[in-house]
Amino acid sequence: MKKLILLAVFALASVQSWAADTIKVGLLVEMTGTFADFGLQITNGAKAYMKQHGDTVAGKKIELIIKDTTGPAPDVAKRLAQELVVKDKVDFLAGFGLTPNALAVAPIATEAKIPTIIMNAATSVITAKSPYIVRTSFTLAQVTEPMAQWAYRNGVRKVFTVVADYGPGHDAEDTFKKAFTKMGGQVVGELRVPLTNPEFGPFVQRVKDGKPEAVFVFVPAGEMAVGFMKAYNERGLAKAGIKLLSTGDVTEDGVIEALGDNALGVISTHQYSAAHVSPENKAFLAAYSQIDPKTRPNFMAVGAYDGMAAIYEVVRQLKGNIDGDKAMQVLKGMKLLSPRGPIQIDPETRDIVQNVYVREVKKVNGKLYNVEFETINAVKDPGK
Ligand code: PHB
Repeated sequence: MKKLILLAVFALASVQSWAADTIKVGLLVEMTGTFADFGLQITNGAKAYMKQHGDTVAGKKIELIIKDTTGPAPDVAKRLAQELVVKDKVDFLAGFGLTPNALAVAPIATEAKIPTIIMNAATSVITAKSPYIVRTSFTLAQVTEPMAQWAYRNGVRKVFTVVADYGPGHDAEDTFKKAFTKMGGQVVGELRVPLTNPEFGPFVQRVKDGKPEAVFVFVPAGEMAVGFMKAYNERGLAKAGIKLLSTGDVTEDGVIEALGDNALGVISTHQYSAAHVSPENKAFLAAYSQIDPKTRPNFMAVGAYDGMAAIYEVVRQLKGNIDGDKAMQVLKGMKLLSPRGPIQIDPETRDIVQNVYVREVKKVNGKLYNVEFETINAVKDPGK
């Protein structure tokens, strides 16, 4: 009997020490469906960081637990987050390609006091929904305001806006209008396209009929960006002299080759281009290609890579003993040298402060890239 009890105690102790030796990161991402590229980029970016820096920090092994939200599916995201917290006992929640999934998980982050790292979702309000949320990606307002200002400074006066009809699209539309009209420009038309299965042709035709000097576009990266560009070309907007201005989501590195030479000359504003010249980006690109040599990393991979850097720093500073409130103290004000340039977590809003670049699509060594030509330093989210 004594032997049995001893054995049981021993078994329990070994389970506990195993649990305590591992830091678990629950990654909630879109791995299937229309938005499967988001999950691919985010998981690749996180794995690239771990490949480059090893999977042990402060004597603890870092473990990723990847869950598929399947697309914009708040109910699925919420259920998976609950499982990660209750069953897997994760130390961090992270991932979130899409805004609706991030919003659905905010109450769980608050209730369980789990530090939650938004690696992509970019609607301004997300970080305000829980004191346990930080963002290592961007906000639409942050990259849109510089686009409106660049357009006006470069002689554009009449713009039509086209955005995806949900949180980040509404932020982009509002921000563009506010910044552009403040300078003296005019928004001559506004259209919102559905997030799922949009038919871009008729929307783009309405833009053409409105005869603006330029169209400003935000749609989520990936298939929607390809769909918009196709309609823009088929309906002959470029030929009609209507310039295309966009956030970098439309010309992102993951799809830019699929857009083809029609994309040459498109001006966009964003925080990351694979063509960014820096030692940090060079190291990132090398680590990423070890994980996935077939795809080019985009801004989502970088948001995930930096999110892992932030998690590693928390684990290091807390010596492997993760407590939600202490973790948030470490995250607030954290500075990192990212592949995109210097970044900081604003201690008040827990949102990211970073450079925004104005870029033009050009050929570099025969391939299409967003070539940065202007930098706006240390931009805070103006949507706060
Ligand atoms: C979002 O859902 O917040 C989102 C998704 C894709 C993007 C940008 C924002 O390219």
